[in-house]
Amino acid sequence: GLGPSLKPEALRDKPLESLVATIHAGRPGTPMPPWHRFLSEAEARWIVEQLISGFPH
Ligand code: HEM
Repeated sequence: GLGPSLKPEALRDKPLESLVATIHAGRPGTPMPPWHRFLSEAEARWIVEQLISGFPH
């Protein structure tokens, strides 16, 4: 409930690279934390690709 929808229809029109950067670096000034301590950029990209393709079904 804290963040925006991560469903495919909500993400589809957003630039892939900025979604990857949001996960990797977080969004300073919002509750979205950075995940770079736990995830490489390639892993953050993989998550974005899964979300856009509709995971979990
Ligand atoms: C598995 C963990 C998480 C993933 C993969 C994730 C992913 C994302 C993504 C992709 C966005 C960008 C959405 C967009 O621009 O439409 C986002 C934004 C956001 N997330 Fe997360 N998130 C995670 C955890 C969290 C947690 C734990 C919080 C807060 C407790 C949070 C709060 C937010 C907020 C508030 C935004 C909007 C930031 C803004 O106003 O620009 N997220 N998240």
